[in-house]
Amino acid sequence: MEQYAVRGGNPLVGEVEIGGAKNAALAILAAAVMTDEPVIIDNVPDLSDTKAMIQATESIGCQVEQLGRHTVKITAKTVNSLVVEDDSSKKIRGSYYFLGALLGRYKRAEVALPGGCNIGLRPIDQHIKGFRALGADVRIEHGLIITEAEQLKGNHIYLDVVTVGATINVMMAAVMAEGQTIIENAAKEPHVVDVANFLNSMGANIKGAGTDVIRIKGVHKLHGTEYTIIPDQIEAGTFMFAAAVTKGDITVKNVIPKHLESISAKLMEIGCEVEESDDAVRVVAAKPLTHTHVKTLPYPGFPTDMQPQITVALGLSTGTSIVTESIFENRFKYVDELTRMGANIKVEGNTAIIDGVSKYTGASISAPDLRAGAALVTAALAAEGISIIDDIKFIERGYEDFPHKLQMLGAQIEKVSTERELQKFRLKTG
Ligand code: EPU
Repeated sequence: MEQYAVRGGNPLVGEVEIGGAKNAALAILAAAVMTDEPVIIDNVPDLSDTKAMIQATESIGCQVEQLGRHTVKITAKTVNSLVVEDDSSKKIRGSYYFLGALLGRYKRAEVALPGGCNIGLRPIDQHIKGFRALGADVRIEHGLIITEAEQLKGNHIYLDVVTVGATINVMMAAVMAEGQTIIENAAKEPHVVDVANFLNSMGANIKGAGTDVIRIKGVHKLHGTEYTIIPDQIEAGTFMFAAAVTKGDITVKNVIPKHLESISAKLMEIGCEVEESDDAVRVVAAKPLTHTHVKTLPYPGFPTDMQPQITVALGLSTGTSIVTESIFENRFKYVDELTRMGANIKVEGNTAIIDGVSKYTGASISAPDLRAGAALVTAALAAEGISIIDDIKFIERGYEDFPHKLQMLGAQIEKVSTERELQKFRLKTG
């Protein structure tokens, strides 16, 4: 079994290049099936989740050519099935984007109920409501969501909760519907805007993405395109918080600082210096961290995908902090692991009350999901002694070359798969 071995204590210092946004890439890879013409997508992060999406496009007959590690060419002219149920796509959440993409283009889709991180209930009622409003029939049979329509017709759709997934899915389904669709209470996350820009580059007519009202005028057809995915806000934020918890000095490069504003603001509040330039942000943690309160919210609020990372930092700050999770109801499972490292955190419902401690100590821990896993790695990097982190497959869903990027910043971290390798790591770093 693969694990990360970490010897903590080194401040992380240096520069790190941020890759393409995972959650934009998952939707854009699905949207590539909406034209017969070739689509070239650049800055696709090389992750197990994006690989699963690419395999799913192949499983329905698309031709996929990997033009480089981060560049993929997809030609959907040869699609021969509208059923997405291969094993890898069942494990990821992003596979549900085939519903909107295939329904929009072929007026039919059958997709296995999505997997993804176990962070709460994660219903898809708003996706279904949106498809139905466009005139599609939706039913769930034998583990598949089946949606079909004779014809899709634009409509006025009010989403009951702000949801990234439903906003993107309904937007994709509406792109080739007859007439105008208006999505109200839409999610405003940077990746919603990126998917809209991608679809517009294929000939769609989408306006207002990035605000809470998105207007889509149906077009008959989409065409091929060449498109570069935006940088990953959460990968960047994770390294920014890694600087804070290890008392380091990290410059995250190839980012859009505007997308990181809520993260930068919290880092400054807890005592870090944050310097922004055109496409980089530097975080310096020269002073002891101080407590604060934070509540996760849809963009431009503080992202739920950064909640474990800020909790790890607040666990090492002076005073008492309160973290409120308002998006997913079960996203504090990692707190038990952090407690094993010495944190003093009490969870009540969707709130964590954190009494800062002066240090964490290394322990054997498991990554319960993607973001919590990455946050626990940052805790291990700050901790005294060695930590062993299990279930790293979750972390590899969303962080490309994570140990390598951390090593380049001075971290003592290695992927090990045998007791012998672990012993070697102990000796080398001891
Ligand atoms: N919701 C509903 N009904 C729906 C859809 C969502 O009630 O039909 C609720 C959810 O239960 C949740 C809230 O609305 O309480 C927001 O859900 P959203 O649809 O925004 O989340 P998602 O599409 O399931 C995506 C990302 C998550 C990220 C969230 C929030 C992908 C594949 N996943 O999930 O990413 O946390 O948006 O920004 O894009 C991650 O990358 O680690 C990750 C979990």
